[in-house]
Amino acid sequence: MEKPELVIGLFGFGVVGEGLYHVLENSKTVNARIKQICIRNPEKERSLPPDFFTNEVSKVLEDKEINLFVELIDDPVEAYNIAKTVLQSGRRIVSGNKKMLAFHLPELIELQQKHQGTLLYEASACGSIPIIRNLEEYYDNDLMTSVTGILNGSSNFILTKLFKSGTDYAAALKEAQNLGFAESDPSADVDGFDALYKLVIIATHAIGTWVHPEKLFHTGIRNISRDDIRFAIEKGFKIKLIAKLVKLGKENFSLFVMPSLTSPENYVYNVEDEYNGVIIEGQYYDKQFMFGKGAGAYPTGSAVLSDITACEHAYSYEYKKIKYFRKLSYSEDLKLKIYLRYENLIDLSHFSFETISEKYTSLQYNFVIGEIWLSELVRLKNIILKLNVFLAFYEEEV
Ligand SMILES: NC(=O)c1ccc[n+]([C@@H]2O[C@H](COP(=O)([O-])OP(=O)(O)OC[C@H]3O[C@@H](n4cnc5c(N)ncnc54)[C@H](OP(=O)(O)O)[C@@H]3O)[C@@H](O)[C@H]2O)c1
Repeated sequence: MEKPELVIGLFGFGVVGEGLYHVLENSKTVNARIKQICIRNPEKERSLPPDFFTNEVSKVLEDKEINLFVELIDDPVEAYNIAKTVLQSGRRIVSGNKKMLAFHLPELIELQQKHQGTLLYEASACGSIPIIRNLEEYYDNDLMTSVTGILNGSSNFILTKLFKSGTDYAAALKEAQNLGFAESDPSADVDGFDALYKLVIIATHAIGTWVHPEKLFHTGIRNISRDDIRFAIEKGFKIKLIAKLVKLGKENFSLFVMPSLTSPENYVYNVEDEYNGVIIEGQYYDKQFMFGKGAGAYPTGSAVLSDITACEHAYSYEYKKIKYFRKLSYSEDLKLKIYLRYENLIDLSHFSFETISEKYTSLQYNFVIGEIWLSELVRLKNIILKLNVFLAFYEEEV
């Protein structure tokens, strides 16, 4: 028996919105059509007839024929208002907006439960890799010990260019933006915000605890230099921007985002270009690895299509770990071995290392390798952004 038609109100017709339109056009398995598309700028030239478009959010939200909303805009405040309005009236919405979700998940989960609405967001973490649904459904036990991933396609694309072809940082960033991998604000990608937001969403589904993104340590690749790349190559490493969730005993866990000196034994060593990769490690099953395109119109559009199909089958996240598992606490009690490249002694003086195993100084290039507490990095996170330093950790030695 054919399911009732899904009539979609789409918000956003940018990289992902337009990608979804084409993916949906070519899907024979879902009985869905886009009725109306809300965009910001009515003057922009579009590839569809004008009567599809409006710039009035309320016109779409109030359309009684629409029975599924898909939110793919790059404005987290408006995205939040849309999601809240839809959920308050017990309707269904699919979103790809990781920033909005990372900041508002607890409230949006509560609204779903209160009004029996549905919010799905597979596209918000790792593009085409079905990480959220797997964490929800397959990893529905407490065996998992860590989740480690390359979650940002754009910074991985830049790092690949820097290592493989020796392109300079600015040219590699421009290329990522031209290809539609980079967010409109590059800081979201290169300073680790985007990976952090995805990590917050992943942690909520992996262990059932949400942590406010502003509490967490993240640093990115903006300050990477030729010296850092040369250092990594001499040691046989690559540098990857890694997001990590690690359980600390039975009660606590840590989260952070940082570039990592990654050895060839690490599963993510060969994850290149705009691809993402996630390693899930657990008691009894050791390591499992998921790999795929983490950004771009069609890979992300495919993840949205999967959520649309899931809505057709009345699927919603159960949030089993939040409801039924013992709540773990976020902790910064984790010692990390890091590489710190600095220019001035005054910059170095901010960092209180527990131990130092290697130190190098010269006229142009200085670094320290040593152990430091995550709590210390969290304390320094706003200062680090202003210093001329580059930080990376030796992931396999954590
Ligand atoms: N790009 C990716 O690979 C990727 C991957 C995963 C998730 N995402 C997420 O998907 C979302 C969309 O990303 P994108 O790359 O497609 O962005 P984009 O290319 O910049 O497109 C954004 C779209 O949102 C519309 N828009 C912005 N503010 C609006 C508002 N207040 N009201 C109505 N429409 C508004 C824009 O309208 P105009 O066309 O008039 O400017 C545009 O059509 C973001 O949350 C992003 O984080 C993106």
